[in-house]
Amino acid sequence: MPRYVIAIDQGTTSTRAILFDHAGMPVATGQREHRQIFPQAGWVEHDATEIRDNTFAVLAEALAAAGADPADVAAIGITNQRETAVIWDRATGEPIAHAIVWQDTRTQDLVDRLAADGGVDRFRAQTGLPLATYFSATKIAWLLDSVEGARARAEAGELAFGTTDSWVLWNLTGGADGGVHATDVTNASRTLLMDLATLAWDDGLLTAFGIPRALLPDIRSSSEVYGTAIAPLAGVPISGILGDQQAATFGQAAFGAGESKNTYGTGNFLIANTGTKIVHSANGLITTVAYRLGDDEPRYALEGSIAVTGSLIQWLRDNLGFFENSADVEQLALSVPDTGGVAFVPAFSGLFAPYWRPDARGAILGLTRFATKAHIARAALEAVALQTVDVLDAAGADLPAPITELRVDGGMVANDTLMQFQSDVLGIPVVRPAVIETTALGAAYAAGLAVGFWSDLDELRANWREDHRWEPMMAAAERAERMRAWKKAVTRTFDWVD
Ligand code: G3P
Repeated sequence: MPRYVIAIDQGTTSTRAILFDHAGMPVATGQREHRQIFPQAGWVEHDATEIRDNTFAVLAEALAAAGADPADVAAIGITNQRETAVIWDRATGEPIAHAIVWQDTRTQDLVDRLAADGGVDRFRAQTGLPLATYFSATKIAWLLDSVEGARARAEAGELAFGTTDSWVLWNLTGGADGGVHATDVTNASRTLLMDLATLAWDDGLLTAFGIPRALLPDIRSSSEVYGTAIAPLAGVPISGILGDQQAATFGQAAFGAGESKNTYGTGNFLIANTGTKIVHSANGLITTVAYRLGDDEPRYALEGSIAVTGSLIQWLRDNLGFFENSADVEQLALSVPDTGGVAFVPAFSGLFAPYWRPDARGAILGLTRFATKAHIARAALEAVALQTVDVLDAAGADLPAPITELRVDGGMVANDTLMQFQSDVLGIPVVRPAVIETTALGAAYAAGLAVGFWSDLDELRANWREDHRWEPMMAAAERAERMRAWKKAVTRTFDWVD
């Protein structure tokens, strides 16, 4: 009897494979980072061949660490950084160019041209999304127009597009030798090309963005058998795919309407499950598919996407050399009692939810000669939490009932100072589960459900356990003052790019 399900988490900065046991506990992990390629300001790329090679390597590492072989593994789940666009040659398996990453803003001109006819919300009713560089469609169009011969080859069916779930699935099922070209509804819902109600690629949208249908993967549910893996997991079914934020929602067992989670990764992503209802936001959130299990009705969600949180701490480490390890930010921030009047708005990719300001750029405000790197580090950490208040306020205004406690996950939730401050500025409890690898866990759950390793959602719900809870300790007047100052700082970043 197989003892494990394995999840591949193809994230923005690294690829991981984690083996989970039946209790939903992580047993062994393999992890490799890949290069972040910044060819010019605003551009962010990944080498998809590096990601492919890392995927095979981390699978082998995780199996070796657990002393497991394919017979021990019931199923494989895939979760991934969403929106990032890979286009590859179906015959050779080679990408035609570097992948364009979700944070990349090079397609702003195309976004502006499309928005000139009907505004940034012209596709929102159908897709749940505003027109923005964040989503895949304009990245695909850019690649087709910029790589010589790509458009004609795409129309002839020689090329394949995928977000990195599709890229991993195709390679893991044999690549040019019979690989399965598919994606799931959650990833497809991030492209600007899928109709949220029909869950199918839409001809009107394909025409608007100039994308040939022959390029696109099949859209499947989040939990079904898509194909069978090659070595090092030869013969094991691949049976779960969820975009990483939806996977974290699933791993947090937030299966029902009114349940939510907030993940602290490269960016922060709040997802509030709205059940079978498609809810459109009046407050700057986007509408997305939460999951679909086999032929069941799809579940939808509102999402507050924040582009830069964890990557801000990396930026302090790598670009400014503030500390050696990201975890050191907590100690540096705690070496001063407050930010000394400094505010940091990390609008590195413009601002996403709830502002959607592509013209914004990052700013450190309130500097005096008193300010030190400790104040800047503290302001950066606070910015992670303050941006989250903005998206929770938006969710509170959109949802029938406000969120009364916040389930959190992701690497930064190990930072107690940040979590206490988060609870303080939100004015609600913040709750961390025992397993914070909820992204990988959610993909494992989706895969395990499809093959009967787990029987139903109740069984998964029973696995969820609270580890720590932070209660708000800040006075309401101070919270209000903090938010007033934050919002003032945010508006100062607008209109920087014409
Ligand atoms: O939408 C982008 C998101 O999926 C990336 O997540 O955790 O890789 O930063 P993460």
